Amino acid sequence: MKTVLITGSSGLIGSEVASYFHGRGFAIHGIDNNQRAVFFGAQGDTRWSQQRLEKTLKNFQHHELDIRDRKKVLDLVKELRPSGIIHTAAQPSHDRAADIPFDDFDTNAVGTLNLIEAARQGCPEAPFIHMSTNKVYGDRPNTILLKELESRWDYADPAYANGIPETFSIDQSKHSLFGASKVASDIMVQEYGRYFNMPTCCLRGGCLTGPNHTGVELHGFLSYLVKCNLEGREYRIFGYKGKQVRDNIHSEDVARFIHAFFLNPRSGEVYNLGGGKQNSCSILEAFALVKEFSGRDQVYTYVDENRIGDHICYYSDLSKMKGHYPGWDITKSLKQTIEEIVLSWRNRIRN
Ligand SMILES: NC(=O)c1ccc[n+]([C@@H]2O[C@H](COP(=O)([O-])OP(=O)(O)OC[C@H]3O[C@@H](n4cnc5c(N)ncnc54)[C@H](O)[C@@H]3O)[C@@H](O)[C@H]2O)c1
Repeated sequence: MKTVLITGSSGLIGSEVASYFHGRGFAIHGIDNNQRAVFFGAQGDTRWSQQRLEKTLKNFQHHELDIRDRKKVLDLVKELRPSGIIHTAAQPSHDRAADIPFDDFDTNAVGTLNLIEAARQGCPEAPFIHMSTNKVYGDRPNTILLKELESRWDYADPAYANGIPETFSIDQSKHSLFGASKVASDIMVQEYGRYFNMPTCCLRGGCLTGPNHTGVELHGFLSYLVKCNLEGREYRIFGYKGKQVRDNIHSEDVARFIHAFFLNPRSGEVYNLGGGKQNSCSILEAFALVKEFSGRDQVYTYVDENRIGDHICYYSDLSKMKGHYPGWDITKSLKQTIEEIVLSWRNRIRN
């Protein structure tokens, strides 16, 4: 039986990918130490997700391991020699990083180096898929000429009509410490692809979301917004009139792309992985969409100051992904995704 190693296996993307590959006959080894609860407190606890995987996936084995522990990571990869590594463990929050710079960099940059070097030593032919982020572009997307529409910002420059391409500069802009630690890991994973000719890719995510997200105020905007809506809790909008635009992709569509790359890998690739323009929405638009399924108005306050370095408008240009993997496309609309998130939070809140 072929084996894949997934880091961050209790998280949104890790757990989705675990189920997806398991369903295709793979034995899954998951690494997670519930660090999300350390980063975000009890609200970020992902043990429920770990237990769900242990209950539902026959060939799933959990490893309670910190990816910062270099020796244990090197030993585990050598022992397993998996046929693929999918690296989703991270400190994922833009804003949280400023309070915990060492934990952020040690997890995102050094943890990634531990894993990719372990892959080089133990299984250099195995595709290594790294979850990067659109924050590697820093706040440079905010320099694109914008137009203000009734409920959202949009690009006024026709060069970006399809969104932000992978050729966009990652240099000389404000990234947040999180963006900087992710740039370090993104470049390192590319380098192992180019320098050692290993099959690697970096997926620069927009807003990755889905029913299994444990959204908190500092990370997982749609999941957190739905939770606030259902609990009648106040959601805080930070600046940009609530018209800031995000492109949202369901975690299952992320897993489908990862599988496509795994089957047909390339070296040192980079893809902007988001929902694209068709699955984009502003915060104000998200309030209205969630109401369609919950029947509730969103309680919110407006904070005049935007989050440092936050994108005003961002959606991914998906042409490169579709060009390299023509069998892949978005299958879950934004509405479907929101409906699933509403159902999932209803169940979790009840239990
Ligand atoms: N969700 C998004 O909107 C989004 C957007 C862009 C990029 N990404 C990237 O995608 C990846 C996955 O994101 P997600 O939303 O699934 O995050 P998540 O927080 O839901 O999952 C990450 C998991 O990694 C685990 N983890 C963290 N540090 C660890 C460590 N040191 N050792 C072992 N396990 C550790 C956490 O406990 C958590 O379960 C991350 O690299 C993130 O930066 C996410």
